[in-house]
Amino acid sequence: MYLTLDHITKKFPGRGQEGLVTAVDDLSLEIGKGEFFTFLGPSGCGKTTTLRLIAGFEFPTSGKIILDGRQLEDVPPNKRDMAMVFQSYAIFPHLSVFENIAYGLRIKKFSNDDIRRKVGQIMTLTKLTGLENRMPNQMSGGQQQRVSLARALVVEPKVLLFDEPLSNLDAKLREEMRFEIRDLQRRLNITSIYVTHDQEEALALSDRIAIMNRGKLAQLGTPEEIYELPRSKFVADFIGLANFLPAHVRALEDNRARVTVGDKELVVTSMPTAAPGQAALIFVRPSDVQIVNGDASATNAAAVQNVLRGQIIKATYLGEKFDYRVRIGEGAELRVQTRGARRYQDGEAVQLFLPPEHARLIGEE
Ligand SMILES: Nc1ncnc2c1ncn2[C@@H]1O[C@H](COP(=O)(O)OP(=O)(O)O)[C@@H](O)[C@H]1O
Ligand SMILES: [Mg+2]
Repeated sequence: MYLTLDHITKKFPGRGQEGLVTAVDDLSLEIGKGEFFTFLGPSGCGKTTTLRLIAGFEFPTSGKIILDGRQLEDVPPNKRDMAMVFQSYAIFPHLSVFENIAYGLRIKKFSNDDIRRKVGQIMTLTKLTGLENRMPNQMSGGQQQRVSLARALVVEPKVLLFDEPLSNLDAKLREEMRFEIRDLQRRLNITSIYVTHDQEEALALSDRIAIMNRGKLAQLGTPEEIYELPRSKFVADFIGLANFLPAHVRALEDNRARVTVGDKELVVTSMPTAAPGQAALIFVRPSDVQIVNGDASATNAAAVQNVLRGQIIKATYLGEKFDYRVRIGEGAELRVQTRGARRYQDGEAVQLFLPPEHARLIGEE
C-alpha cells in the first residue's frame, strides 16, 4: 500500500473542564497509489485533523503514518511531497495567477525556462490559459479555486490533499468542478485524499470512501458498497435517505430473517449478528419501497408476504419523483419515493411492498 495510517489517535487539550478531546480515535486504513480516497462525515468527526496529520501540520498522539515505505514521523510538512487545496483557496492576493502557480517551483529553485513550461502545462490542464497576469481579486471564486488546484498540481506531489475545496462555490459550479477534479486526477493518476461533509460529492468523486463518526472509522468501502450495504444506522442515515423500522427477529434461514413489525410478519435480508428473539432495525431506502395498490405484482407470493398497509399523510411533488410520508401504524411512518405516473393523495389508503432484498436488518452503531 502507498499510504498507511496505523492506529492513529490524536487528542487535543480541551477548553476549561473538558479534559482531552479525542479528534481521531484509533484510525487504521490503507490508501493505494493513484487512488481517489475520501473522508466523509459530519462536522467535528475528525476529517480535517486526519488530513493535517497526513500533511504533517499536526502530530499523532499515537500511531504511525507511512508513505511509500517511509515512516513520516520525523519528516516536516515541506519534505513530505504533498500539496493541499483548501476551502478558502489560500492564494496570495499580491501575486498574479502565473506567480501564484509558480511559487512552489521558485522555492524549489527551478530555472525560469522550466517554470514557464511547467506552469504553462498546468494552466492548460486547469483551463486558466490567458489569465496569467490576472490578480486574484479580479477573478471569480471558481477561477481562484482553479489557481489553488494548479498551484498544488504543478509541484507534482506524491499525494494531493483536499479539505472541502468546493464548499464556498454555488451548487452549479460545485458540480462542474467535481467533474474537473475527477478528470484531472484520473489523467495525472495522482493519489488524492479528499475531505468533505457532502455525501453526493463523496459518491461522485471517490474510488473509496471512509465514513467517520466521532473520530472513528464507521465504514470503509466503494461508493456502491457504502450506499447499498451500509453496516450501521449511522452510515445508512448519513448517506442518502433511509427508513428504520423497529422489528423483532423470529427466525433465520440462509441470508433471510423472518421478523415482525407490530403484528405483521415480514421477510428481510439478515445480518451476521442477528439472533432469534432479538430486537432489531429494518433499513429500507424510500426509493426501494413500492406502492402496490391493485398492482399485478401484489399477486406475486413474495409481494403479498411483504406488504404493509398504510395511509398517506403527506404527498409531495418533487419534479422527477413523488415523495410520500405514509403512516403504517401507531407512531410508525415510512418515507416512500416513486417515479410512477400515478399520484396518490393525502389521506389515501395504500399498500406498501418491501422487497426482501432491499429491506435489511442493520445494527445501531
Ligand atoms: N487545535 C485544536 N484544539 C482543540 N480541539 C480541536 C483542534 N482541532 C480540532 N479540534 C477538535 O477535534 C474534533 C475534530 O475536529 P475536525 O478534525 O476539525 O473535524 P471536521 O473537519 O470533521 O469537522 C472537534 O471536536 C474539534 O473541536
Ligand atoms: Mg473540517
